[in-house]
Amino acid sequence: MHVHRYEKWWLLFGGGMLLVFIAVIAVNAFAMGMAPPSHMETIDPAKVDQTPPFDKPGLKKIGDNEYELVMTSFVFAFQPNMVEIPKGAKVHFKVTSKDVVHGFQIAGTNVNVMVVPGHISTVTHTFDTAGTYLILCNEYCGAGHHVMAAQIVVKE
Ligand code: CUA
Repeated sequence: MHVHRYEKWWLLFGGGMLLVFIAVIAVNAFAMGMAPPSHMETIDPAKVDQTPPFDKPGLKKIGDNEYELVMTSFVFAFQPNMVEIPKGAKVHFKVTSKDVVHGFQIAGTNVNVMVVPGHISTVTHTFDTAGTYLILCNEYCGAGHHVMAAQIVVKE
């Protein structure tokens, strides 16, 4: 069978890219212990409600317009599900799951992490623009997945 020279190059290039992607996934999974963004903090998912700081989820002021927001996620909600912060606030999110894998995405920002039971996911974001931000679950977690959401209200 005759294969055109350019066709061969593209086949090689395509095959090569597949190998590169597989290598990236392998390094992530085996060398870096694939996990959600955090300091590799773990938690017993069955005891989230008894484990500090998740026994008291909520907003805590830790500095000058700087906050720590401890959140739990479960089918099919986040706790707390509404938080108010002033404009310019820097928020350190700490999120964990009490049951299955959830997503934690803040629409309109770069915040998008997986929330895996047994792990504590951390992410930081500074809210420079006032408005209402939607936090949504972007990992399919069951029949009520589409209603799993929370809000951050950034006030002037
Ligand atoms: Cu939680 Cu989808």
